[in-house]
Amino acid sequence: MDSGYTIGLGNNDSRTRIDANEDGIKFWETQASKLYWFEKWHTALEWNPPFARWFVGGKTNASYNALDVIVKKNPKKKAIIWEGEDGSKREFTYEELLSEVSRLANGLKSLGVKKGDRVTIYLPMVPELIISLLACARIGAIHTVIFSGFSAKSIQDRVDDSKSKVIITADGGRRRGSIIKLKDIVDEAIKDLNFVENVIVLTHTNNPITITQKDKKWKDLVGIMSSSCDAEMLDSTHPLYILYTSGTTGKPKGVLHGTGGYLTHLYSTFQWIFDIKDSDVYFCTADIGWVTGHSYIVYGPLMHGTTQIMYEGALDFPTPSRIWEIISRYKVTILYTTPTALRMFMKFGDELPNSYTLSSLRLLGTVGEPINPEVWKWYFKIIGKEKCPIIDTWWQTETGGALVSPVPGLETIPLKPGSATRPVPGVHLSVVDEHGKDVKNDSKGYLVVTKPWPGMLLTLWGDDEKYKTVYWSKYKDMYYPGDYAIKDKDGYIWMLGRADDVLKVAGHRLGTAELESAFVSHPSVAESAVCGIHHEVKGESIISFVVLKEGIIPTVLLKEDLINHIRKTIGPIAAPDQLHFVKKLPKTRSGKIMRRLLKAIAKNEQIGDISTLEDEASVDEVKAAFAELKQTLQKF
Ligand code: WTA
Repeated sequence: MDSGYTIGLGNNDSRTRIDANEDGIKFWETQASKLYWFEKWHTALEWNPPFARWFVGGKTNASYNALDVIVKKNPKKKAIIWEGEDGSKREFTYEELLSEVSRLANGLKSLGVKKGDRVTIYLPMVPELIISLLACARIGAIHTVIFSGFSAKSIQDRVDDSKSKVIITADGGRRRGSIIKLKDIVDEAIKDLNFVENVIVLTHTNNPITITQKDKKWKDLVGIMSSSCDAEMLDSTHPLYILYTSGTTGKPKGVLHGTGGYLTHLYSTFQWIFDIKDSDVYFCTADIGWVTGHSYIVYGPLMHGTTQIMYEGALDFPTPSRIWEIISRYKVTILYTTPTALRMFMKFGDELPNSYTLSSLRLLGTVGEPINPEVWKWYFKIIGKEKCPIIDTWWQTETGGALVSPVPGLETIPLKPGSATRPVPGVHLSVVDEHGKDVKNDSKGYLVVTKPWPGMLLTLWGDDEKYKTVYWSKYKDMYYPGDYAIKDKDGYIWMLGRADDVLKVAGHRLGTAELESAFVSHPSVAESAVCGIHHEVKGESIISFVVLKEGIIPTVLLKEDLINHIRKTIGPIAAPDQLHFVKKLPKTRSGKIMRRLLKAIAKNEQIGDISTLEDEASVDEVKAAFAELKQTLQKF
């Protein structure tokens, strides 16, 4: 084993792993007891496969754990140090954050929001985003955050599915020097959704907006509210939030997370993974619109009283060294970012990070996509100066928190560039074949989780059946995440990317089926197929093939129109890098699209090993389909 990457932090608590292996349920109970409970649970786990309910009978509150618990000990501790893309700065102590959260919680109550009601949040990365999540949690409303890169149509679908009666948004958000007009997008999204009663609008960028009868300005609403609001005593299993994420079929799914189990998972993993200390300055570059922000900007760090940097804009704007500037200015000790961001920084060259003082850093995390070993080594050498462990954390929206990751807060083990190392204590994984049998070490298989864990989703919002089919039907009693993996002889896990039709583009999760149906919703399109091909920086890039309806002429203008249509129906993050018009899609006899053919075309390659290409089609059929496809391809 290569021990050149063993970074000691002086932690060697082997007891935690032993306890976790001896009695997993008791182990998680010990972890849960570190949270604040109004009432203790009577049953640690009710497991009615595939539905898990953790700490049943217990009463707690996420906002109480993230704020009041810290305020009692250290009210003046800095919670958020915020910097806007335009250079403006704001700071909040835990005490101030609690006041703001309470004001908004009272404001929501004044609008009639009750326990269990859904509230959609569509905000830029400003402190009010954190305040909004916690205000919902405080009164037991279920928050559902939508990333500000999604379009009006995407918002409409999500709000319609969750039936949120209140939406929280801002006039605008800043990105790369321009303003995204969030309020206008919300107006468009909800024009036919009569059940939406109120829109709370934060003034942030001061661009002109239309104010309707439903709208309440944030300042006007919270300004008159009391800064004290008791946290609701909620069942441990009470839903904390819905977060929509893409899968292999149709529309995004509403992943539903609970309270007590989810918080326990985050409290523990945040401690183990980041070895968090009171003196740390933590900087996670994710957007709260994604799960990383929910778990490791909002709930995990705040429950530990962490001081963190929150940044609104693009990490390379207005200069490519913006991120290094922030790290050196605030003496950041822990950085948590994505392989896409690292690949971009790496391309800018070593001189940029080398010209800043980054010596405050002590831990470097990564999440969201497989990290290439060379990028891992660059992060280790150039950013961490060979002194900081690289913490590659594997997890999903559905898992709530990290399942595979080094845990330097507990133990020092040799790291291997490109491997997320081992499951965190209390989590049980295997790598299996099609039949659910463990594959041999060093062989590729499907990653599965063999026992319930506290951060696991409760279900999919309003769709228990889909929850069962998506995650629990490929294997009996094992959770199927949809990722390929290898376990090596030392028990280290190597994540190899998705085994299904889900793409990871610049760390954003998108389903090919979702893109295909967006194309087909355009009046000129008869059929479409979408896949991902390797991209040097973004990890994957979206390529699309479109069959037009009879009589429609392919033109450059139509191509632009189609790409715009994707921007409008899903959002700018889903705009394809390539669009090819074809006469028909290459399919097997049973109608399966031969995606590898499409990828070969997009990469301008030969098809390679045809024998393993599609089991349903003969070599001749594949060859003929390839030739035909090339012939009818019209590039612009
Ligand atoms: C991928 C993001 C390799 C994986 C937290 C997973 C990773 C999907 C890693 C979930 C990693 C996440 N190494 N792949 N460290 N972390 N993934 O729901 O394919 O946006 O299934 O959650 O991202 O994406 P999601």
